[in-house]
Amino acid sequence: MLKYSFWIWIGITIGLSIALSLAFPLSKGMNASAAVFLPGKTSHGHHQIELKCSACHDAMMGVRENACLQCHQAALKASRDTHPKSKFDDPAMAKHLSKIDARSCLTCHKEHVPEQTHAMGVTMPADYCSFCHSDIGEHRISHKGFSFQSCSTSGCHNYHDNTSLYEKFLTDHADEPSVKENPRLPVRKSTVSAKSLILGQQDVPLNMVVEGSILEDWAQTAHAKAGVNCQACHTSKSKSQSLWSDQVGMESCQACHNKNVDGFLNGMHGMRLAVGLSAMTPAQSNLKMSPHSLHAELNCMACHDDHRFDTQFAAVEACLKCHDDTHSRAYVGSSHEQLWREELAGKAEAGSGVTCASCHMPREVDRKGNVAVVHNQNETLRPNEKMIRTVCINCHGLQFSLDSLADPQLVDLCYSQTPDIHVQSLTMAVERMNSRLKSRTNAKK
Ligand code: HEC
Ligand code: HEC
Ligand code: HEC
Ligand code: HEC
Ligand code: HEC
Ligand code: HEC
Ligand code: HEC
Ligand code: HEC
Ligand code: HEC
Ligand code: HEC
Repeated sequence: MLKYSFWIWIGITIGLSIALSLAFPLSKGMNASAAVFLPGKTSHGHHQIELKCSACHDAMMGVRENACLQCHQAALKASRDTHPKSKFDDPAMAKHLSKIDARSCLTCHKEHVPEQTHAMGVTMPADYCSFCHSDIGEHRISHKGFSFQSCSTSGCHNYHDNTSLYEKFLTDHADEPSVKENPRLPVRKSTVSAKSLILGQQDVPLNMVVEGSILEDWAQTAHAKAGVNCQACHTSKSKSQSLWSDQVGMESCQACHNKNVDGFLNGMHGMRLAVGLSAMTPAQSNLKMSPHSLHAELNCMACHDDHRFDTQFAAVEACLKCHDDTHSRAYVGSSHEQLWREELAGKAEAGSGVTCASCHMPREVDRKGNVAVVHNQNETLRPNEKMIRTVCINCHGLQFSLDSLADPQLVDLCYSQTPDIHVQSLTMAVERMNSRLKSRTNAKK
């Protein structure tokens, strides 16, 4: 079916592209000609790589489902996917699969069909949960009469990621106040190494003249303190002879910050570089961007833009150089921004401020207590309940976090007002837990 319609499509488009290239000889070129074969606009998540057909298609233009997994499996696994393919390999599931083949990603995520595509690249109508859960009202009295449209649109369930929505999590976090006592995020420790370097110890080639500000910025900040000298970034290691270069690419950073680079490449800032295309720029974006930065390239230096590698600048000012939509602008003046200003002024404890990065690049604590910054700003973006565990719940109760994230108005307001929505699932989970306890104690009597 796919291949058949593809060849018809090829027929039409080859004719069209010949006609076009005769009419506009200058419009030829690799990308322009690939674009002609696109049957429709590609979804928001993939628009940046849509001209790289081979990222998803094989030579016969079939879709390699393995490709989807290569890029997405790790994240789905990490979020303990509630409906993984393996669940449906069980023969007992055959009854469901005749209605909807949940083993294939393409059942729910088609491409190039904008008129059929909803948020998060979903190409199914929102009530499809009914195919498999039509009897839910019988098992759970609380669910009787609920519309199947509402399962995943009212802050209650997701299809894949329910890590902050399952019953035990809800009951464990019932009755928490809107704002917790001492609301704070984890703080990165500053590492001062024994090899710490100072001004004068820079390993600049003898004949080179360097601006004093570069030297001072380096000497006063993290790299010099950690013993990282100029040449660690400025010479390429592959050559036997080390040669100074003013250009420093992402590969240099990768030698020491592998995880940051990986994260960056897996999100919408780095995804073009990840498949070998040129860097993403605001000019190619679907979002509203500042006209002053249209051609700024997305690489490490997009946010870490001088020798200070200043993370405070990176957390807000850097973002606002590019992002200019209503949500981003509404951050300025919000109570979260106020908390950040107070932290910067030293009037509040470290970790009490909320920046763009606090929500979009959360701080992750490993088993040894080291704090690292997630560099994939899509990891917690959609569905937005992903932000609960890593971000909001450090400072807010679960009910307040769920309500805030379920309120679509608060997106534009950048969470600068209390929510108008009340998600019922906590109350329902607690009632169910209580009624179970009650019937258990009754049974004992
Ligand atoms: C991010 C992955 C991805 C990329 C990149 C991509 N496609 Fe697709 N494409 C898909 C998916 C998914 C389908 C739907 C397959 C299905 O419905 O079984 C599809 C379907 C198609 C179809 C068949 C449409 C039909 O009606 O049967 C054509 C033709 C096509 N793509 C062309 C292209 C071309 C040309 C490019 C590059 C310029 C491209 N695609 C890039 C994922 C992609
Ligand atoms: C039965 C339908 C269905 C199938 C099959 C399906 N998905 Fe999804 N997917 C959804 C829905 C619905 C969402 C919207 C968010 C949610 O409810 O979890 C989504 C969201 C996503 C997201 C973005 C949000 C997130 O949690 O990361 C990714 C990535 C994704 N799916 C990848 C895949 C891949 C890869 C496959 C195949 C292994 C797949 N999906 C199979 C329904 C499906
Ligand atoms: C080259 C890597 C790559 C391939 C191949 C790929 N994706 Fe994605 N996909 C991404 C990235 C990067 C994003 C954007 C970040 C995110 O939402 O995780 C994304 C986003 C998505 C989303 C969420 C869209 C949104 O708006 O939130 C879904 C759903 C999805 N992909 C499903 C698929 C499916 C199904 C396939 C196979 C046809 C596929 N992807 C192939 C990299 C890839
Ligand atoms: C293809 C069939 C199918 C579809 C479609 C489907 N589910 Fe499921 N779902 C299942 C199966 C099977 C289970 C496991 C049931 C069990 O373990 O008793 C399950 C389990 C669940 C659970 C319990 C998860 C847990 O492990 O605690 C929730 C919640 C859920 N589904 C919600 C949804 C929602 C919401 C949708 C629509 C967005 C949906 N499901 C669509 C088959 C499906
Ligand atoms: C952590 C990595 C790193 C360290 C350490 C580092 N630099 Fe750089 N340097 C860069 C990056 C990144 C650029 C920008 C490169 C580009 O735009 O291609 C740069 C650019 C430069 C330039 C080019 C002119 C300019 O202003 O952009 C000079 C000169 C320079 N660095 C000198 C130094 C000297 C001297 C030291 C030691 C005191 C040093 N650098 C330490 C990463 C580093
Ligand atoms: C030779 C190893 C090395 C290289 C190469 C390197 N770094 Fe670092 N970097 C470190 C160490 C060590 C620290 C201090 C410990 C930490 O914060 O992780 C650090 C700290 C940082 C910080 C935190 C600064 C702060 O104030 O806390 C940023 C941001 C950073 N590096 C970015 C980069 C970028 C971007 C590149 C590439 C242009 C790069 N680094 C290249 C070793 C390196
Ligand atoms: C979108 C902006 C942005 C980009 C692009 C970016 N960073 Fe960062 N980075 C930040 C912010 C913001 C922080 C500090 C966040 C905080 O303190 O909570 C940070 C912190 C860091 C740190 C110190 C924390 C840690 O995890 O060790 C390192 C190292 C780092 N970045 C390296 C990199 C490298 C390497 C790249 C390129 C792959 C890169 N960054 C690209 C915004 C960015
Ligand atoms: C050099 C410009 C630039 C800087 C600096 C920058 N961004 Fe972005 N950002 C982009 C572009 C371009 C995209 C891709 C949008 C698209 O694909 O349409 C993007 C995508 C995103 C997305 C994903 C949007 C989506 O719909 O999937 C988020 C979230 C985001 N940026 C947050 C931030 C944060 C937070 C910072 C600062 C820590 C930041 N950005 C810094 C240009 C920038
Ligand atoms: C309190 C947490 C929080 C803060 C602070 C915050 N955001 Fe967001 N942001 C979100 C959430 C949640 C979403 C997802 C909304 C949704 O689609 O449900 C979002 C969405 C976005 C998007 C995607 C918009 C789109 O249409 O695809 C961008 C880009 C973004 N934020 C950038 C920023 C920037 C830049 C800042 C700082 C100036 C910032 N955010 C501050 C929570 C936050
Ligand atoms: C570092 C702690 C911290 C984090 C993380 C945090 N908040 Fe907040 N937030 C606060 C504090 C404290 C207030 C109360 C400010 C006040 O009343 O002045 C607040 C206020 C709010 C408000 C009400 C704003 C107003 O002006 O009335 C909303 C909505 C909100 N937060 C949502 C969120 C969401 C959603 C997340 C997660 C994506 C989040 N917050 C993450 C500390 C935090």
